[in-house]
This record gives sequence, C-alpha cells and structure tokens, in this order.
Amino acid sequence: MDKLVVRGGNRLSGRVKINGSKNSALPIMAASILGDGPSVIENVPRLRDIRSMLSILDSLGVQGCHRDDGSVTLEPVDTSKNVADYAQVRTMRGSICVLGPLLAKRGRAVVSLPGGCVIGVRPIDLHLKGLRELGAKISIERGYVVAEAERLAGAEIYLGGAFGPSVLATANIMMAATLAEGETIIDCAACEPEIADLAKFLNAMGAKIEGAGSPTVVIRGVEKLAGARHCVMQDRIEAGTYMIAAASTGGEIIMEDANPAHLGAVIDKLRLAGVSIEKANGSLRVAGSPPYKAMDVTMLPYPGMPTDLQAQMMALLTVSDGISVVTDKVFPDRFMHIAELNRMGADIRKEGPSAIIRGVERLSGSHVMASDLRASAALVLAGLVADGETEVHRVYHIDRGYERIEERLSKLGADIHRAEDDET
Ligand code: EPZ
Repeated sequence: MDKLVVRGGNRLSGRVKINGSKNSALPIMAASILGDGPSVIENVPRLRDIRSMLSILDSLGVQGCHRDDGSVTLEPVDTSKNVADYAQVRTMRGSICVLGPLLAKRGRAVVSLPGGCVIGVRPIDLHLKGLRELGAKISIERGYVVAEAERLAGAEIYLGGAFGPSVLATANIMMAATLAEGETIIDCAACEPEIADLAKFLNAMGAKIEGAGSPTVVIRGVEKLAGARHCVMQDRIEAGTYMIAAASTGGEIIMEDANPAHLGAVIDKLRLAGVSIEKANGSLRVAGSPPYKAMDVTMLPYPGMPTDLQAQMMALLTVSDGISVVTDKVFPDRFMHIAELNRMGADIRKEGPSAIIRGVERLSGSHVMASDLRASAALVLAGLVADGETEVHRVYHIDRGYERIEERLSKLGADIHRAEDDET
C-alpha cells in the first residue's frame, strides 16, 4: 500500500490540463449496456474507479478496453448476463448506475446493494422508487436488488429526496426511460452537468431526451439504441481541487480545459475570499495570496457549491483570517477529515451538519489517514501549506478520483512523492 509524502511551503506555478470527468464517465460507460453495438467514449481519465467500472461491465458481458489515447471502447457481447455481484459493487458505490440500463435492456437486473459509506448513509430509495414507477417489479433479496420488467412504461416521476435531487438516481431513471414505452417526465431531477453530458451520449445513441441539466427532464422512449461515440466533459471537481491548491499555496497556475461555466459557485466563493481568477481562451488563471478572509460556505446540489469540494475548501479555511462555518446540506455527516486536519494543528469543531473553523497561523506536518476520496485530496492540500513533512496514509482513496496527482503537483512545483507505506 502507498502513502504520499508532502513537504509544505512551495508556491504552485505553471500549467495543468484538467482531465475528463470521473462522475460523468461512470454513468456513460454504464449506458453502453443499452446499445446494440460498440460505443467509443473519449477523454476517460485513468482512475481506479474507471477500472472498477470496466471490470463490472466485463462481468455483465460488455467487453471494454481503455486505449492509450484515453478512449474506452465498450461492446455488449453477451446479453444473457444480469448480475452485478457484491464483490464488484462494494469496490465502488457508483456501480449502482448499471441497474437502470440492465433492467431496461435485458428485462432483469440483480445488483448488489452498495452498502455503507464513510461520507454518510447513502440509501437508494429514490432509484427504486423511480424504477417502480416505470413499472418494474423490485424486491430486495439477500443483499441484492432484484428488478424485473418485460418492458418499462413511461411515467411522471417526482425524484426529490430529503437532501434534494439525487445525481445517480436521475441518471438511472433517465437511462431506463430511454427504452420504455411512451413518455417519462422526471421532476426534481438533478441538474449536475454530468447529467447533461450523459443525456448527450444517450441522444447520440438514438434516445429522445430533452431538458437534461434542468429540474424537469422529458424522455420519449424508443424501441432500440445503437452504439455511439462521445467525448466526456472536463472534471469540474478536479479543476476545483487544483484551484484551491494554487490559492492555498499563494501560487499562480493556468488550468487548461477547465470549463468556467461549471464552476460558477466555486469561482464566486474563491473570489470572495480574495483569490484572483481570470478566464482566458478555454483556460483559467488562478492566483492567490493567503491568508484569506474567513467565510461561511454551504454545500448544495448543483449549481450550488459542490459537496465534493467541501473538504478541500475546509483545508483552505483552516489558515484563514477569522471564524468560518462550512455546512454540508448534501452529505451532512461528511466530516471524517476534521480529526485529521486537527492533527495538523487546525482548530475545527463539528456542530451538526456544520463545521466551525477558527483560522490558525499555520499548520504543521504530521501523519494523517485518508478516509475517502475528497478527504484525501484535502489532506494533500493541507500538507502543501504545512510546516515540515506530512505523510498521507491509505492514498488508494485518492487514486480513485485523481490521476497521478503527485506527478502533476510536482510539475507545478510541489514537493510531494509517493512511497511504499510500511505503517498501515
Ligand atoms: C454523486 O453521488 C457523486 N458520485 C458523488 O461524488 C457526489 O458527492 C454526489 O453525487 C452529490 O453531488 C458519482 O457521480 C459517481 P446523490 P450520488 O444521490 O448520486 C441522498 C465523489 O467524491 N439520497 O446525489 O450517489 C444521499 O444520501 C462522489 O466523486 C437519498 O436519500 O449522490 C445524499 O444525501 C462522492 N436517496 C443526497 O441524496 C437516494 O436514493 C445526494 O446524493 C439517493 C440519494
């Protein structure tokens, strides 16, 4: 197992190219199940989660391969398979998005329940509610969702939950409805750009989807879909992470292929804190000079501040000027990183769905443990500004969502390397 060793104090500078989006590529790869023929997905990042999805699809009779040019080809070769087993699904919760395509295309889907997650209780009740309203017969047996339907039937479905819309429930229902009889309307759909990107791919396969990216999505079912080619959108969470890294170190970076249209809330909050952000020909220049003003930040569904940048924002605010309050309205318990940041000398207290952060002069390097993907990114960012050396253990979490992060940060001037971890 690896660890990342970070020595703080270097200002980041230079250019970094933003990769394709993990959270867009995963449901798009799952959608290949729906097609009668091969699909080619371009700009797919090399991540552990992508490899997990390739392996799940392989177990479902969809042959795939990730080419050197970053494209993934996917071809359904054995449509008799319909079981996504526990061993596969437990490696990645996102694999739940094979449920809708399997059911719609093969009439039966047996998918392991995703199980627990450190960022919070993550039920799938909205996924099941939506599929039931499309006419599926659903039962839970021995830890598996068993869903059956000869052919799904279009319906009007309200998909709002206790924490607002659900991204992957919207994706699952939208994918299933493409092959349903008649029209489906999804109300309170998730508006994340990843949903619009998925709909773009589905429409390229021959689907009839309108309104994706807005709270109301209309899908007119078709008889069949073909394979298609699609280029995945940029990863707005990766972009946000590098913006905060540059700001935290008082650096100046140019991010190529970062789409400012998807980063409105992030750009607004960082500018409020005092970071300079300029858009120029498809790239973003980010320059900062800490300490920043303390502020309150609330994580909300898109177009609000993304919960997947909550931990990174917290790392930035640990050395800000004053008291900040960070509230997560999407995953109210997503605060495993607080204890680890406090190990580095931060002063953070959890209060219900909020964290109260009293800005400190400086952080000091320490041994810290990554608990999940975004928390591990926050610990690396904190290590970039801390005095001395920080060792981030269990970095397999970070490899799930960031491609070669230590190489790309080193290219920007960070003192960071990967090493064998003999301590865990
Ligand atoms: C997606 O997860 C992302 N994952 C998450 O990114 C991201 O944090 C999340 O959306 C919110 O933006 C992928 O796209 C693979 P949700 P998803 O369903 O779809 C509750 C990362 O770091 N809910 O939108 O699983 C749920 O518990 C990951 O890259 C229900 O109550 O999230 C949460 O509180 C982490 N019932 C809220 O809705 C349901 O049936 C939003 O979750 C479904 C969700």
